[in-house]
Amino acid sequence: MVSYKQLGFVNTKEMFAKAFKGQYAIPAYNFNNMEQIQAIITACVETQSPVILQVSSGARKYANQVLLQYMGQGAIEMMKAYAKEKGLKEIPIALHLDHGDTFELCKSCIETGFSSVMIDGSHHSFNDNIALTKKVVEYAHQHDVTVEGELGVLAGIEDEVSSAVSHYTKPEEVIEFVSKTGVDSLAISIGTSHGANKFKPEQCTKNADGVLVPPPLRFDILEEIEKKIPGFPIVLHGSSSVPVDAVKMINSNGGALKDSIGIPEEQLRRAAKSAVCKVNIDSDGRLWMTAAIRKVFVEKPAEFDPRKYLGPARDALVMMYKHKNQNVLGSAGKA
Ligand code: G3H
Ligand code: 13P
Ligand code: ZN
Repeated sequence: MVSYKQLGFVNTKEMFAKAFKGQYAIPAYNFNNMEQIQAIITACVETQSPVILQVSSGARKYANQVLLQYMGQGAIEMMKAYAKEKGLKEIPIALHLDHGDTFELCKSCIETGFSSVMIDGSHHSFNDNIALTKKVVEYAHQHDVTVEGELGVLAGIEDEVSSAVSHYTKPEEVIEFVSKTGVDSLAISIGTSHGANKFKPEQCTKNADGVLVPPPLRFDILEEIEKKIPGFPIVLHGSSSVPVDAVKMINSNGGALKDSIGIPEEQLRRAAKSAVCKVNIDSDGRLWMTAAIRKVFVEKPAEFDPRKYLGPARDALVMMYKHKNQNVLGSAGKA
């Protein structure tokens, strides 16, 4: 058993309490490789933002679970060294399992240094979701690890599980779910979804610049939930904004992305000021990495040193994470 405390991670309890009170949201950024983790740490130290490093089960398989544990440990050491070099404060970092689907996976992550886990029972019946989530909470809390549950279903891919339609969270279910399971935070469905195609063009209107504007998130549902469980930390998955510039850069360099529409930043700013304490962002990083790499390949077709295209991809990620912390989530300066 490797405790997250030995590695230098924190659980999400204090992070969320401060975020709730301060009306901002903690960024939860997914990673699978070295450049992503370097960019997250660089951006979050430079903006002095707390951060949640997220690992999906697919990422854990891709990166190798043993290596991943050391990458997490490496992130903490890099953060300390970089903060010292810049004369800045160290930042709180949580290591979180994203979309855990079984008790065994959550247990294995807890035993290998994760400080927080998500058990996503949203595809089960309400009662089965409660039973599974409660089992994970009982084990996790013995180790002071925090647990995120989910009620309601997001459209798109949630790891191996995919759903064509979303089912909004039912506010009338949240009190029973939270009290019976003992979860520390709750992911809800109010109109976000995973991936780069969150809305169909026909669902959108066009703004003055011809940019497609999707329908607003269901803040009415969020408000009802806030009334039912006052002060309880809420999580928003599927919160990439799918920047038009990144999509253009991909497509003008040989890419073929179609109908790529995300959550407008204005909507996320509003969410971050509410009970939403954690905002999950993965696709935007994938888009900027792809855009930067494609540009190098088109402009310098003779280049074959991976550092020459992964380096620019990493730089693009740093810019994006800093922008989110400073201008969208309000987490900059809250470390
Ligand atoms: O919510 C899903 C995350 O973007 C992780 O995606 O399962 O492909 O690693 P992944
Ligand atoms: P995006 O696909 O919108 O980045 O959402 C990521 C996510 O919710 C990870 O759990
Ligand atoms: Zn998610």
